[in-house]
Amino acid sequence: MSNPYEILEELNKEARLGGGQERIDDFGIDKQRYAGDGVVSGYGTIEGRLVYVYAQDFTIVGGSLSGANAKKICKIMEMALKNGAPMIGLCDSGGARIQEGVESLGGYADIFLRNTMASGVIPQITAIMGPCAGGAVYSPAITDFVFMVKNTSYMFVTGPEVIKAVTHEEVTKEKLGGAMTHNSQSGVAHFATDDEKQSLQMIRELLSYLPSNNLEDPPRVRTQDDPKRSDPELLNVIPDNSKKPYDVKKIIHSIIDNEKFFEIQQHYALNIVVGFARLNGRSVGIVANQPDVLAGCLDIAASLKAARFVRFCDAFNIPLITLVDVPGFLPGTGQEYGGIIKHGAKLLYAYAEATVPKITIITRKAYGGAYDVMASKHLRADINYAYPSAEIAVMGPEGAVNIIFKKEIETAEKPEQKREELVQEYKEKFANPYKAAELGYLDAIISPKDTRYKLIKALEMLKNKREAFPPKKHGNIPL
Ligand code: HXC
Repeated sequence: MSNPYEILEELNKEARLGGGQERIDDFGIDKQRYAGDGVVSGYGTIEGRLVYVYAQDFTIVGGSLSGANAKKICKIMEMALKNGAPMIGLCDSGGARIQEGVESLGGYADIFLRNTMASGVIPQITAIMGPCAGGAVYSPAITDFVFMVKNTSYMFVTGPEVIKAVTHEEVTKEKLGGAMTHNSQSGVAHFATDDEKQSLQMIRELLSYLPSNNLEDPPRVRTQDDPKRSDPELLNVIPDNSKKPYDVKKIIHSIIDNEKFFEIQQHYALNIVVGFARLNGRSVGIVANQPDVLAGCLDIAASLKAARFVRFCDAFNIPLITLVDVPGFLPGTGQEYGGIIKHGAKLLYAYAEATVPKITIITRKAYGGAYDVMASKHLRADINYAYPSAEIAVMGPEGAVNIIFKKEIETAEKPEQKREELVQEYKEKFANPYKAAELGYLDAIISPKDTRYKLIKALEMLKNKREAFPPKKHGNIPL
């Protein structure tokens, strides 16, 4: 791909943003000119690190985007990109300024272009601070993380009144595009906070895990937490009965520094857990199937949530730790009609494409395609561990026996007894990690209590990892 900085130079040469055009000033908007035009932009530091920020002001024409307003935002985005520092947008806007017509639409397209060029180069973070519509939601959607404030922030392509006029559907702002709608249902937002202060505080915390740009590593912090700390409690987390659920966050909290887990999308696709943490002071991205919800299976929402997170970590040099306990993909027409094939493939693609250090631990089930998907050795994971409780097979014992021994069971004198015998036999053969280890698909079978130290040692070993892809313009992820 061409250098984004050169492209920006070209665009500016064309003076698309350089002024000189006549302003559109229909419908009396020429009488509503305000200094700053409804957006404040600038730069500063967070924990001593440079960031760029713009904030829209809803009290000025509903924070709507004018041509001038767009220029200010584009200018600050370009500075962020050129100087390799995160871009933070505080959005509070009714979208394109209706009175300015195509000038405001063009302004949004200018912003979208810059969002896209900055994607994967600098972290882009948005906080939705009020009602946001139209272009004011598409720009945030391209950014990496979206914060929403409960009860006061909204995101929708178009608001309730237009919906009522067009489709006669009546819906409240909250139900249509409130913080919990986008955090728990649509997955558009990543965080729901109680107030604006909390959003700002969490943005600061989020940035502490991230590098300023894709050429840097995330900052390393000092930790008092002993890297060699083992945790005997971990021997009791996974139930003996493999059908029983458990909370994977117990494992996560135990292994990371100071139990500090910065969870992302905690209200969406609860069957998978993703977030940032540190191991011996180094940032890592954690992806973990959650056996407590839907037995930890992969469905459309979980695949999308994890795939986007994996790609973010890969773009910004954040190693990936994957905890696997997955019975497979969720079956059913709902999932098939919704496109689980292409959405599940996104996660597969994201893991296969990722060149950051990848360390995987199979804690219990790794069945079927989900075994492949969840950072298996075959997708170039660097270190693959398993607990002794791991079960690695094409499918669970009951399902497998019903298929491969259908006739034997049907014709047996005591079918139920026969089925049980065959299930036991299958479990002994496949429901363990030893076959995978024999084949070299696992590097070691580890005791759960030693997980933290094993991960830290592996990360240390992988800290200078370099891996490349064949040259190409870009891949074609199954969108
Ligand atoms: C000009 C706007 C405006 C807009 C709001 N205002 N949105 N002015 N252009 N897009 C003005 C209102 O006229 C009003 O002015 C003031 O801002 C406050 O708006 P209210 O409606 O009173 O506020 P509220 O009840 O809180 O409702 C907020 C809102 C609603 C939900 C955002 O204003 C709304 O639905 N606006 C239109 C949203 C929309 O459909 N935008 C899409 C634009 S198209 P006064 O003078 O009365 O205070 C777009 C396409 C971009 O953005 C490309 C996408 C790919």
